[in-house]
Amino acid sequence: MRRGAIKNVIVHACGDSLLLGQHYFGRPKCVVDIYGKSLLERTADVFGDAKFIIVCQEGMRGIIEKCIESTGVRIKHSVVESSPGCGDAMRKAVLSVPEGENIAVVWDDIFFEESIALPDMHSDYIGVTENLKCKIGYDGKGFARPEEKGSIGGIFGFFYLSRKPKYLLEGNDLVGSMLMGDIKFKPLRFCGVYSVTQIEKLKKVRELSRNARAFNRLETEGGKVLKRRHKKLWHLIFGEAEWYKYVAAKGYANIPKVYGYSPLVMEKVAGKSPHEKELTDKGREEVMEDIFDALEGLHAIERTPYFHVAEKEMLVDKTIDRINSISEIVPNNDLEYFIINGRRCRNLLNAAHSEEIAALASKVSSMDNFAVIHGDPTFSNTIVKKDGKIVFIDPRGSFGEMKVHGDPRYDFAKVYYSAIGNHESFNRGEFGLRIDGERVEVNIASEGWERTEKVFERRVGPYMREIKVMHALIWLSAAGYVLDDIESVLAAYFNGLLLFESARRIFD
Ligand SMILES: Nc1ncnc2c1ncn2[C@@H]1O[C@H](COP(=O)(O)OP(=O)(O)O)[C@@H](O)[C@H]1O
Ligand SMILES: [Mg+2]
Repeated sequence: MRRGAIKNVIVHACGDSLLLGQHYFGRPKCVVDIYGKSLLERTADVFGDAKFIIVCQEGMRGIIEKCIESTGVRIKHSVVESSPGCGDAMRKAVLSVPEGENIAVVWDDIFFEESIALPDMHSDYIGVTENLKCKIGYDGKGFARPEEKGSIGGIFGFFYLSRKPKYLLEGNDLVGSMLMGDIKFKPLRFCGVYSVTQIEKLKKVRELSRNARAFNRLETEGGKVLKRRHKKLWHLIFGEAEWYKYVAAKGYANIPKVYGYSPLVMEKVAGKSPHEKELTDKGREEVMEDIFDALEGLHAIERTPYFHVAEKEMLVDKTIDRINSISEIVPNNDLEYFIINGRRCRNLLNAAHSEEIAALASKVSSMDNFAVIHGDPTFSNTIVKKDGKIVFIDPRGSFGEMKVHGDPRYDFAKVYYSAIGNHESFNRGEFGLRIDGERVEVNIASEGWERTEKVFERRVGPYMREIKVMHALIWLSAAGYVLDDIESVLAAYFNGLLLFESARRIFD
């Protein structure tokens, strides 16, 4: 937004935060903290140096003033309290604007990820989006039900009036009054708007799944690495140490030297992860062959009987739990299909497809045996030493309820996740995502390893389809694993849906 372009912003902060739980009880949503900044501050960032009129419920003035004061946000503002019902207070706010000046009206629970660009300052606009579930839609002239054909999108809480309206209907709520009055609104489409409820939900998902990344502490000293985890994650580090102990005792050589198990102290391996190396196509193929050799060496250490329960836990239960944990973050999560990169894909959050994950996982053939596996040999957990030797770090140490042993094909699926799935560039945020109603575009930058797919075909042979099923499920699970922002969660989910659809087709 060009500074000074919008002169007045009326923030509708009359709702309460009941949906956000105890912590925000009785406080307006605009004081909620979003990644270190209150929503009000974020709104202020979007609108530059406009004058703010904050309309709130009776008795809320103090909280809002305190929020503005404590966060140090410098905005010109006034607060109008309503008593009771906020229609009158909103009218009062509109009427307080000087003649001839423009006004934006925004709801206080909206997080704008995009800047607001008005095509023409002299027209009146109503913000619409397909990104959020809205009670009311707009068909270009007036109200519509959001699901009705001709509805351009939902009204989520952004209005722009090029000048103060001549009259507002008495006793009506502001939106109704504006829409029924003589203002001719043009729709203005938004894609990057989120509701604070979605963001709060994401924060909760993150706390619950307790990402190891957030809790890990690596200390390096004198060529050694000391790895600690948060107390609550001790079982993870325990699993990791146990795994090293187990495979070292069997003489497995593709791991760092371990100096101590509690705490875990190991050799700092000199080398680079595969994706960090400058390689030709041929060089990449050679590294991939070496990774396969090293993993097959691990799998050959010991075999145990195939265990169907653990397979189901890893492929079905985990995936369903993870995607359910993010369902409220996914826009239009009630659609039966999304069109992702032009392809019709089942939305696995829709009840009509609730059996699909189990159905596809059941196509994963059983094997004669499980083996000792690593569980997470992605590129970032693989180090290629100068002499070409492969070293694996950061083992998962479990497969469902099994420790150390599991389905060896899962290891290859994790390598595939890095090499063909480009998981590392995804992790660095190198992806594009665009959501427009049912249409989604998702693209992840390439690390350049796609051609090594032929190594997979050669070496996993008949299990290639199992690898592809597991790969899709790994992406879907990743969506619910503490990712840093909504964009990553959604990109992982939609990419997972796309891969799921491809994997499903193999069996049609
Ligand atoms: N023993 C080691 N030698 C060399 N680098 C290491 C070692 N352990 C960890 N690292 C580096 O630190 C990163 C994170 O460590 P990792 O054990 O994989 O923890 P996380 O659970 O965060 O993935 C690795 O990707 C690697 O670059
Ligand atoms: Mg790691």
